[in-house]
Amino acid sequence: MLNFDFYNPTQILFGKGRIADLNKVIPEQAHVMILFGGGSIKQNGVYDETIAALGKRQISEFSGIEPNPSYETLMQAVALVKEKKADFLLAVGGGSVIDGTKFIAAAALFDGEDPWSIMEKRGSNVSRALPFGSILTLPATGSEMNSGGVVTRKSINAKLAFSSRHCFPQFSILDPTKTYTLPVRQIGNGAVDAFVHVMEQYLTYPVNSPLQDRFAEGILQTLIEEGPKALANPQDYDVRANLMWCATMALNGLISTGVPQDWATHMIGHELTALHGIDHAQTLAIVLPSMLRIRKEAKRAKLLQFAERVWGLRDGDEDSRIDAAISRMQDYFEQMGVKTRLSDYALNASHIPAVISALETHRMVALGEKRDVTPDISRQILEMSL
Ligand code: NZQ
Ligand code: ZN
Repeated sequence: MLNFDFYNPTQILFGKGRIADLNKVIPEQAHVMILFGGGSIKQNGVYDETIAALGKRQISEFSGIEPNPSYETLMQAVALVKEKKADFLLAVGGGSVIDGTKFIAAAALFDGEDPWSIMEKRGSNVSRALPFGSILTLPATGSEMNSGGVVTRKSINAKLAFSSRHCFPQFSILDPTKTYTLPVRQIGNGAVDAFVHVMEQYLTYPVNSPLQDRFAEGILQTLIEEGPKALANPQDYDVRANLMWCATMALNGLISTGVPQDWATHMIGHELTALHGIDHAQTLAIVLPSMLRIRKEAKRAKLLQFAERVWGLRDGDEDSRIDAAISRMQDYFEQMGVKTRLSDYALNASHIPAVISALETHRMVALGEKRDVTPDISRQILEMSL
């Protein structure tokens, strides 16, 4: 096992009716800025419950944080936070709203350089942030219990990730009943994103970390079992609760302790979103199957473990077990309604060179757990995904 630091200060309030507990976790004197997206929280009652729970606290609000939140929009929110002198931020929504709130929290207290440098320096220059919490409405990203965020600068087609220990939510409220209104597309996206988060931290090479491996395999198996049930029976509380907790545990730092991490699929996926607006999870479903096929030799030991322990594949030679496991994974993504080929999103070979040059511009030229995923390998992966 590798050395590691594990730090996670986020309090989780999980279950039905927990929005009412906002009263216990936000100081009474706080001036709260509520941040949200395009309005789903007004249609499903989450907004009203939030306002009621905040009681007599001073409230301001900013709406319109879009999926794949843009720097342009977030800087408007930063200006409003400063104008209103809000001192506590409350993100209400999915990963985009929570990620956006992390950036706003850091940018509102950032002095000196241009706030875009937070993204260029991947958060290493963040030394403080406003306190914030979240109410999660879409289980997928894990943003509710981690310190990372992804922000898009539309004017230059750049989608970059940052993280800072100052950007953990103080608390996150996870009420599974608030996910009942998710469109089918977002149920599928959420399960696939969480699945791929686990794979980025699990499917590398062995370092004798049986506990982390079994945590990871447990999350994968639960996603495989529960995901289709959420599509078939959207109002099943237990299914939604299990999916929600899977997505949080998939990216809160626990399963990455002491193990190598990959993240090449995510980095290529971010470029596809920045250039073509494809949903985050859709990009992962396109890239990961080919990523594993092309890097089969370097990942052989873990692929065999994945085949046996996650998919129960024990018969046949090594290569056929590996191939079957990757195909089963791809079928699962499709079963969750997330298409797995570039051509499903109206992209063809002519679109690949721009993705490669974007990777080069963003210095994503030595990706993966062994830093051996060069632009040429990324190109082969995309060609295999056509
Ligand atoms: O904007 P509203 O109206 O709220 O609608 C949203 C949005 O259109 C809707 N939605 C959310 N909850 C709903 C709902 N609709 C009905 N009922 C509900 N309960 O869903 C749509 C998508 O929301 P979004 O927040 O964009 O989705 P997601 O949670 O998948 O977040 C994606 C973003 O997170 C980043 C991605 O890159 C992408 O920008 N990621 C963040 C990570 C992190 N912080 O650790 C890691 C991930 O790998 C990922 O990169
Ligand atoms: Zn992701």
